[in-house]
Amino acid sequence: MVSILKADNLQVSVDGKPILKGVSFEIAQGQVHALMGPNGSGKSTLAYALVGHPKYEITGGSISIDDVVLNELDPCERARKGLFLAFQYPVTIPGVKVADFLRHAVSNIRNPDRKEGEGLIPMREFRKELRSRMDELGMDPDFARRYLNEGFSGGEKKRMEILQLAMLKPKFAILDETDSGLDSDAVRVVSEGLQKLCGPEMGVLIITHHERLLEYNVPQHTHVMLAGRIVETGDASLASELHSSGYAGVRERHPAEAAEELVDKSVAGSIVEPATV
Ligand SMILES: Nc1ncnc2c1ncn2[C@@H]1O[C@H](COP(=O)(O)OP(=O)(O)OP(=O)(O)O)[C@@H](O)[C@H]1O
Ligand SMILES: [Mg+2]
Repeated sequence: MVSILKADNLQVSVDGKPILKGVSFEIAQGQVHALMGPNGSGKSTLAYALVGHPKYEITGGSISIDDVVLNELDPCERARKGLFLAFQYPVTIPGVKVADFLRHAVSNIRNPDRKEGEGLIPMREFRKELRSRMDELGMDPDFARRYLNEGFSGGEKKRMEILQLAMLKPKFAILDETDSGLDSDAVRVVSEGLQKLCGPEMGVLIITHHERLLEYNVPQHTHVMLAGRIVETGDASLASELHSSGYAGVRERHPAEAAEELVDKSVAGSIVEPATV
C-alpha cells in the first residue's frame, strides 16, 4: 500500500505568534514535491511542525499519515511512523561518533520498543550495512569514525544527511536546504545522493532555492508559500519560473497574502525586502 502524508488546514504558532495559517497538501510515497517561497514565508516552520518540534504549536488542522493523526505524537514516535527531517542548520554533537549515532537512530526506528542500552542492532550486522551504504554513496569509511558534524564542511554535513536517509529509509523525507554557504560540489552531493535514494518507497519534500537540486530530482508538484499559506501549486515548470523571475509575480497574483507578508515582517521588526525580490 502506498502511504500518504497529509497536512489538512494546518495552523501553527511560535511563541503565540501565528505563522502557518491553514496549509494543506498531500504527498504520496514515491513522489517528489518542492516547497518554495520567499524568506520568512513559513517553510521551515512547516518542516518543524511536521516532525513535532515542541516550539511549534499546532493550533488547528492536522498532520496525518494514512489517516493516523500525528498531532499529539512526539518527534520519536513520528520518526517511527516514517518521517525524517534533514535540518536547515544541523547540530554538532562532539563526542558522539557518526557510526554510534546512526546505530542508535536505526535501532530506535527498527526496534521501537527497545529500552536504552538494550536492543541495539548487532555491531557486525550494523557495520556491514553501514559500509555498503557508504560504498554506494562513494563515501570514505573514515567518515563514520568522526564526531557528528564536528568540524564538518558544508559538503560533509550534506553527505551526513544523505547517509542518514540511506540508513533510516524513511517513508517521507523532508529536506530543508540552506540557500547559502553551499558550494556547487555540496549541492551535487545532495542532488546525486537524493536521486539514488528516491524511489517508490520514499516521498520527498524538498525546501530549496537551489535550481540544481530540482534539476536532478524533478518535482511532480511545486508549492509556493507566502505569508504562511500555500498560495500556488504547479509542476516543475513553476519552480523554474520562480528561479528565473523571483516572487514578484506570485505577490502580484496574491495581493492579500503579499500585504499580510508586509504586516508580518513589520511585526517581526525585520527588514522589508523589496517587492521585486
Ligand atoms: N523559533 C522561532 N521563534 C520566533 N519566530 C520564529 C521562530 N521560527 C520561525 N519564526 C518566525 O516565523 C516566520 C517564518 O519563518 P521560517 O523560518 O519558517 O521561514 P522560511 O520560509 O523557512 O524562511 P527562509 O527561506 O529564510 O529559510 C518568520 O517571521 C520567523 O521569524
Ligand atoms: Mg527556512
